[in-house]
Amino acid sequence: MQRVAVGQETLSVEIQGSGPPLLLVHGFPLDHTMWKHQIEELADQFQVIAPDLRGFGASALAEPHDLSDEPGPSGQAVSAITMEQYADELVGMLDALRIDQPVAFCGLSMGGYIGWQFLMRHADRLGRLIMCDTKVVADSPQVKQVRMETAERVLHEGPGFLAEVMRDRLFSPTSLRDKPTAVEATQQVIRDTNPRAIAAALYGMAERPDMRDRLPSIDLPSLLIGGELDVISPAEEMRGIAQSMPNAKFIPIPQAGHMALERPQEVNSAIREFLSDWV
Ligand code: MLT
Repeated sequence: MQRVAVGQETLSVEIQGSGPPLLLVHGFPLDHTMWKHQIEELADQFQVIAPDLRGFGASALAEPHDLSDEPGPSGQAVSAITMEQYADELVGMLDALRIDQPVAFCGLSMGGYIGWQFLMRHADRLGRLIMCDTKVVADSPQVKQVRMETAERVLHEGPGFLAEVMRDRLFSPTSLRDKPTAVEATQQVIRDTNPRAIAAALYGMAERPDMRDRLPSIDLPSLLIGGELDVISPAEEMRGIAQSMPNAKFIPIPQAGHMALERPQEVNSAIREFLSDWV
């Protein structure tokens, strides 16, 4: 892992291979290791850049910058990190790494929410867009409420319960049965995550803008990938996003849940084929 100074923060990033830059942005509340198979296999063709977002994995949450003046209901002051902030920090990281040519941005779920904001704010840094298991609708009041309660509970209890809750939401029944090692590794990442980073991301996701109206004007070549059994961002919703974009296609991944990466061969083939006219 490299350590890269971005303003007041330091991000950790794994970089493998050489070639056109492929930026892999992880979901919530995970880290870059969820891209293990993409990093290992796609580095033969691409410069694969897989950061840990601020506060996740090996990237620290620089406490003074994340504290608001007002403590939250738990008494522990944590302010939101917005999708826009994460996107800007990724651009700061690319700048620090002197990667100035457009990247293929590949984000999963929260990584996709960040991708929409990356596109809105830094379109000149993007050559292709790959969105895995993500959404364009903003949170409903009910979903926001659940996020607030979850943040509160994580700050009080730590992330152990979240690792249990997310297990069945992230993986398909097939993966839960056949890939216990990968499932356990993912749960361990959640257990090891800083509760304050989890809360900051939950607050940030709750604030994210609704992107539905923007879709018809996004003409960047885009690939949408979704697990057919995803219960968080259903495949039909992903298909609808692709249909609303003028230059996008949707590839469903059979037997996969929210972590479409459960099926690395299918996902990697889809990425390679999609990027074949770009490289
Ligand atoms: C993720 O996988 O990044 C999250 O489940 C997204 C969300 O909570 O909306």
